[in-house]
Amino acid sequence: MTTKEKLLYRYEEIRRLVVNSYVWKSVFRHGYRDNPRNRILMVASNVFMHLHPSKVRRHGIKISYTWCAGGLTFLIFLVTVVTGVILMFYYRPVSEYAYIDMKYLEFDIPFGMIMRNMHRWAAHSMVIMVMLHMFRVFMTGSYKPPREFNWVIGVVLLVLTFLLSFTGYLLPWDQLSIWAVTVGTNMARATPLLGSEGPLAEQVRALTGGVVATPRYDARSLLTAGTIVSAPTLLRFYVLHCIFIPIAAAVLMIVHFWRVRKDGGISGPL
Ligand code: HEM
Repeated sequence: MTTKEKLLYRYEEIRRLVVNSYVWKSVFRHGYRDNPRNRILMVASNVFMHLHPSKVRRHGIKISYTWCAGGLTFLIFLVTVVTGVILMFYYRPVSEYAYIDMKYLEFDIPFGMIMRNMHRWAAHSMVIMVMLHMFRVFMTGSYKPPREFNWVIGVVLLVLTFLLSFTGYLLPWDQLSIWAVTVGTNMARATPLLGSEGPLAEQVRALTGGVVATPRYDARSLLTAGTIVSAPTLLRFYVLHCIFIPIAAAVLMIVHFWRVRKDGGISGPL
């Protein structure tokens, strides 16, 4: 056997080991070969080519079973997206303007007050709904195999929902939001490894020559873009709130819904 053949053989061995592992199979359930007979199966197993399930079981649409909590969380997310985009037309994430823009939006712009309040109440409801949804999923034991990966995606969605709420809280740029975010970001000092006052910070400082895990370069300064909550923090939170976190949440929601189908639809009553 030549060296090239040996390498190819080794590669195939490793590929089979990974593809046949439990973790791989719990994430990617299908590995159809591309031939004319399998093509419909490939389409049906792709979230973008085949968005809606071909059949739904009776309990899957029963309100008393799901409380429609996941569906309502998604609906409320859409409300925050639509109202949020409208608010973006009138809000500037600059310390000189943010507060007056918010006041102008509330008292001068037609329908501004209802848009702001719809966004705010939808955001609060989303936090409540996602927790109710998680509670339902837990109580019906829907986190058990084969749905364990979807539970993990759900946990990330929960964290993203909290982060959306937290980053949005700073944007009115009033005393309440500035001090609430000061308190919130202060907690990041205690992050393990990366917080300047967190566990193992001393070791990280020693390893990086006293650069990382210091008040200037730690988990907290990464959030606040400085050593205190100030104008750069507002811009950073704005970009995170309007772009990064919503896109990450939307992508994960697509995967979440796709997994519900691939895991055999909504779990059955116990
Ligand atoms: C933005 C957040 C979320 C959205 C929009 C969402 C949406 C949904 C939807 C629409 C369903 C279909 C069934 C239903 O409505 O109950 C579902 C199912 C599921 N969700 Fe979520 N979810 C979110 C967060 C979470 C969280 C935080 C968890 C748990 C940590 C979770 C775990 C699951 C699981 C395991 C299922 C399958 C349930 C079953 O088969 O009975 N989801 N989700």
